[in-house]
Amino acid sequence: MTLFRLDASIRKVESHSRQMADIVEREWREAHPDEPIISRDIGTEPLPATAWAAAVTAGSAPEESRSPEQRDAVALAAALTDELVAADSLLLAVPLYNFGVSQHFKTWVDLIATDDRMQPHVEPVVAGKPTVLATVHGGYYAAGTPREGWDHATAWYRRILADVWKLDLRVIETEFTLVGVNPNLSQFEDMAARMRAEAEDLARSYGRTLAA
Ligand SMILES: Cc1cc2nc3c(=O)[nH]c(=O)nc-3n(C[C@H](O)[C@H](O)[C@H](O)COP(=O)(O)O)c2cc1C
Repeated sequence: MTLFRLDASIRKVESHSRQMADIVEREWREAHPDEPIISRDIGTEPLPATAWAAAVTAGSAPEESRSPEQRDAVALAAALTDELVAADSLLLAVPLYNFGVSQHFKTWVDLIATDDRMQPHVEPVVAGKPTVLATVHGGYYAAGTPREGWDHATAWYRRILADVWKLDLRVIETEFTLVGVNPNLSQFEDMAARMRAEAEDLARSYGRTLAA
């Protein structure tokens, strides 16, 4: 059994998405004390933003005429895809930034989407892999809240991971991580603590699912 873990938070310390992924990973590790974990940290070691265009344009160029940048980009996309292929289950920890998708995560997805094994006309090589996405929001965007509809990231994550890549996806959404940081949100402390406890329960449960 091998677990692949991706972190997209731009911070290492006090990162809620890393904390939630740690809970999932701990449950997995308990069941698999000696098995490997493949880690990739795109938050603190970002993928080059120019690699995607190079990988896309390489696709229509005969191999011998590809530039060094195109060759590197194709190799990077293959290496990223290989990491997923090598794993039995996937753990992805991705925050919400500026009401949208983390740019580092988008680059990671876009690069993998250029690999031959992930093209629309073939069954994705990762199809069916049990996957946990731990996403965190500074605010709270549920139905009926003042900012309902402002989270433009989570639906996209689900679309790509579950519908396009056909992963067996479970999502943990941790809300209100800015409570305790932003004084304007202090009235929501109890609610945030309650939602955090629920999210942590879910993380433990999904960790056991990944380990099974
Ligand atoms: C540059 C930046 C932009 C952010 N934009 C949003 C946002 O649009 N909506 C939101 O709810 N939280 C936003 N946040 C808050 C983060 O989602 C929140 O702090 C989250 O916990 C970050 O993930 P981490 O704790 O794993 O580092 C932003 C944080 C940063 C640093």
